[in-house]
Amino acid sequence: MSILLLAGSPSIPSRSTRLLQYAAERLQTAGHRTRMLHVLDLPAQALLHADFNNGDIKVAKAHVDEADAIVIATPVYKAAYSGVLKAFLDLLRQDGFAGKLVLPLATGGSQSHMLALDYALRPVLSALGARHVLPSVYATDAQVQWSDKGIALDPGIEQRIHDGVQNLSALLHAAHAHGSASFASVPFSAVRCSV
Ligand SMILES: Cc1cc2nc3c(=O)[nH]c(=O)nc-3n(C[C@H](O)[C@H](O)[C@H](O)COP(=O)(O)O)c2cc1C
Repeated sequence: MSILLLAGSPSIPSRSTRLLQYAAERLQTAGHRTRMLHVLDLPAQALLHADFNNGDIKVAKAHVDEADAIVIATPVYKAAYSGVLKAFLDLLRQDGFAGKLVLPLATGGSQSHMLALDYALRPVLSALGARHVLPSVYATDAQVQWSDKGIALDPGIEQRIHDGVQNLSALLHAAHAHGSASFASVPFSAVRCSV
């Protein structure tokens, strides 16, 4: 069962990507296989021109196809998610997230747009056919700090990441125990999620 970590920020360094990496380390500790995909590494021309046949785009889409779950991270830009992330999502098939579990993460300058993931990204994930979208995690810039000593999270955010990772891990184990290659037949409603 593999997890794709989809980093949707165009910036380096990136707060949302650091948060994603933090979640990734917890998932790896829980025994999951992860793979990172930075949208900013994809060719800009191909993204801007919606070039479905570009080789790098095809490889990135294959990584999406192969994943059982996706942790998707984005900065809040103009009260929504980043444009470069949308440019990539637009290149996926209409049901590009079919059968997949998705855990959304975001960072933003303030609490003003803390619902951006729910009103902007969640409908897109549903349109892409995501099987189950877990409760999202939103952190302000002040809640995600880093230095040469590593990342320092506000305790509330640390707890929400912990819950998100636990929930995702439990759902993946449930699917595995169910012996299902896809999640279509797993009764997720029977798996308790903490929020
Ligand atoms: C172009 C741009 C637009 C932004 N728009 C918003 C916004 O609407 N609401 C908000 O809370 N923060 C906004 N921010 C702040 C970023 O969301 C915030 O700094 C975030 O942590 C950056 O994440 P990153 O380092 O992963 O790119 C904006 C930043 C930029 C550069």
